[in-house]
Amino acid sequence: MELFEAMETRVNVKVYDKRDVPEELIAQILHAGTLAASAGDIQPWEFIVVKDKKTKIDISVACLRQRHVEEAPLLIVVCANLEKVALKFGDRGKNLYAIQDTGASIQNMLLAAHDLGLGASWVHAFEEEGIKRILKIPDKLRPVGVLAIGFPLPYEKYYKTEVIPFENISWSEEYGKELEWFYKETWKNRFGIKKSIYQTVKEIQVPEIKKEENKEIQQTQESKVEKKQPFSEKIFNWIKKLSGRKT
Ligand SMILES: Cc1cc2nc3c(=O)[nH]c(=O)nc-3n(C[C@H](O)[C@H](O)[C@H](O)COP(=O)(O)O)c2cc1C
Repeated sequence: MELFEAMETRVNVKVYDKRDVPEELIAQILHAGTLAASAGDIQPWEFIVVKDKKTKIDISVACLRQRHVEEAPLLIVVCANLEKVALKFGDRGKNLYAIQDTGASIQNMLLAAHDLGLGASWVHAFEEEGIKRILKIPDKLRPVGVLAIGFPLPYEKYYKTEVIPFENISWSEEYGKELEWFYKETWKNRFGIKKSIYQTVKEIQVPEIKKEENKEIQQTQESKVEKKQPFSEKIFNWIKKLSGRKT
């Protein structure tokens, strides 16, 4: 799935089928969580993977009894290591950066889950002390999100919530000044036919380079890209390495 397609189609999925989430997929989601940006590259995220039925029930109670938390085959509880961030950035790090960093990590994981064919819900309405007690989380860590994850039920219909158009909330040069360039006729027409913004931007950029030049550039770029090992193969090898297997 392309990144823009993933962003545009990801939704809050709260009904799952009973299938367990394979460990290879769990590893990929966790890996995605570690790829986020973080202030000072501290990477303050830590994850607790929960599959045990009884623990999930306890967590759902701490999440104000949200049913889908209990029913999801997999929960990933994301924590921010406040101590790590505070060492470098003091209170601002603890109160702001740690939360931003882990938020970015969670968004990565939601997109990864979606890309892998799973559905996920970011739950943050919970009693923090309850979550800490259930999972034996030390005081230096703050739980910042419970991700409920599973394969979405195929017959369930999910709709993207109405997104506030960016032109309503983006300003040019100073607060409150409209993005004049956006309202030029060409843009308006293109958006009128409801194409994805990504497609629109790509189409607008292409005519600037002549077709032949474009082909050449593409060929040079392709020759520069070394053949990469497929991602799933990398993860598989990595799991093998962790488990100490030689073959
Ligand atoms: C910080 C945060 C807390 C959230 N808490 C909950 C929650 O407790 N329960 C829930 O069902 N969804 C929760 N959500 C999901 C939002 O309701 C959902 O993302 C929003 O309605 C937009 O829908 P979408 O994710 O389908 O685009 C939370 C999302 C965020 C970012």
